[in-house]
Amino acid sequence: MTLEKNKVVNIENKSSDVVWHQASVSHEQRKAASGHFSAVLWFTGLSGSGKSTIANAVDKMLHDLGCRTYVLDGDNVRHGLNGDLSFSNLDRIENIRRIGEVSKLFVDAGLLVSTAFISPFIQDRESVRALLKSHQFIEIYIDTPIEVCEQRDPKGLYKKARAGEIGHFTGIDSTYEQPLKPELCVKTAEYSVEACALQVVNYLKDNGYLNIK
Ligand code: ADX
Repeated sequence: MTLEKNKVVNIENKSSDVVWHQASVSHEQRKAASGHFSAVLWFTGLSGSGKSTIANAVDKMLHDLGCRTYVLDGDNVRHGLNGDLSFSNLDRIENIRRIGEVSKLFVDAGLLVSTAFISPFIQDRESVRALLKSHQFIEIYIDTPIEVCEQRDPKGLYKKARAGEIGHFTGIDSTYEQPLKPELCVKTAEYSVEACALQVVNYLKDNGYLNIK
């Protein structure tokens, strides 16, 4: 079952009887307990570009520095929360909408949350940006040429897509819109995993994210 067969999710349909409940611990208090700013590190790029690899390497570095972190990964989230979604354009939009909302909760909780989703459409990524304060959304383009992704083909999916066994495959018969002004552009075909992860961690350090004192 996919959403496309049912309806487009419209949160404007929510009941007017649902009232926001004020939390007793504030975001500022949670941030102070973390000892650093919270934000979404939004990794975007083609399948096989290295999003999950770099997101996890960054997560490990930040964790080792004593930060409160978490990784939301497309392949994993599609096993549970988003297990009802296909790869049609509408379902991808809903995939990113839900992850945007979940990321916002992680940010409110005071974490540095990394998300690794293809997130192929500019408008959807910008919608997530709009949910947050400007410094809380860091778009990281994993800029790996499709030829390299296809050569890596870690899950054998490009091969299947080329053979026509998988439809709507990003970069082959489904669109990927490159970020126009990402906060960071990471070149995994040119630099090591460690160097790419350091580029991200250094961005956080240089922009004052890792220390709120
Ligand atoms: S997104 O486009 O909706 O953001 P997401 O990141 O959640 O995609 O999932 C992408 C992962 O699903 C890929 O890394 C790949 O392993 C797998 N996958 C399976 N089918 C497809 C497909 N048709 N297009 C892209 N990825 C696919």
